[in-house]
Amino acid sequence: MTQGHMMSLPRPVNTLFVSEQLVYRSVQMSDLDTFYRIISEPGCMELGHPLIPRPPTQNSMDEFVESYQKKALIFVFICLQESEDGKVTAGKPIGSLNMSPPSLQAREDHRSTSFSIWLLEEYRGKGYGEEATKWAVDWAFNYAGVHRIELWSFSFNEAAIRLWEKIGFTLEGRKRENVWFQRRWFDTVLYSILEQEWERI
Ligand SMILES: CC(C)(COP(=O)(O)OP(=O)(O)OC[C@H]1O[C@@H](n2cnc3c(N)ncnc32)[C@H](O)[C@@H]1OP(=O)(O)O)[C@@H](O)C(=O)NCCC(=O)NCCS
Repeated sequence: MTQGHMMSLPRPVNTLFVSEQLVYRSVQMSDLDTFYRIISEPGCMELGHPLIPRPPTQNSMDEFVESYQKKALIFVFICLQESEDGKVTAGKPIGSLNMSPPSLQAREDHRSTSFSIWLLEEYRGKGYGEEATKWAVDWAFNYAGVHRIELWSFSFNEAAIRLWEKIGFTLEGRKRENVWFQRRWFDTVLYSILEQEWERI
């Protein structure tokens, strides 16, 4: 075989799970308490979960972790970077993100996935959500063969909606008045981004 058969990569592979300020690492069974702490933060159940907002139980979150470890396209902690002997390592987990396993809504065989993200309250509004979402979107289109990423948000989740629009997601539709929250009806909005739209960003 001659060197002519080789093709070079556009970027080194050792930067795969790292972005400018963050590192992405898997969620282990030894991390159950950490995951539960993140999900119990103000805003996570109220803003990021489709059911009636109730304090989550450790059991239900343990089940979520177990099932997402097995089935999710990706399920990671968003961690601050630390450095050890000049190498970047995963420090404190400040949030979590995932892309859904196949379901009727997001069929893997149609290369569509659904994205979710939660951050600890003290780390919101500092650019980490944007950085992590962009990283996950890049990861999905570059490495997971995804064609479409969608996300659902309550119409009162201003931070999330602004973020999706800033990154380049398109408003695709809305479930009208399907959320009863603080004595008012709200919509659930559906955003998506397609591979060819991401290529143009
Ligand atoms: C939604 C969430 C992931 C956004 O991440 P974040 O780190 O707070 O957002 P960033 O700091 O990266 O901000 C990115 C953009 O989002 C918008 N934004 C962020 N916080 C905002 C706020 N409180 N109000 C309005 N817009 C906001 C801004 O447009 C911002 O860009 P700009 O500062 O250049 O204007 C985070 O706030 C969070 O975890 N919220 C609770 C859980 C949740 O709602 N998850 C999404 C469920 S669908």
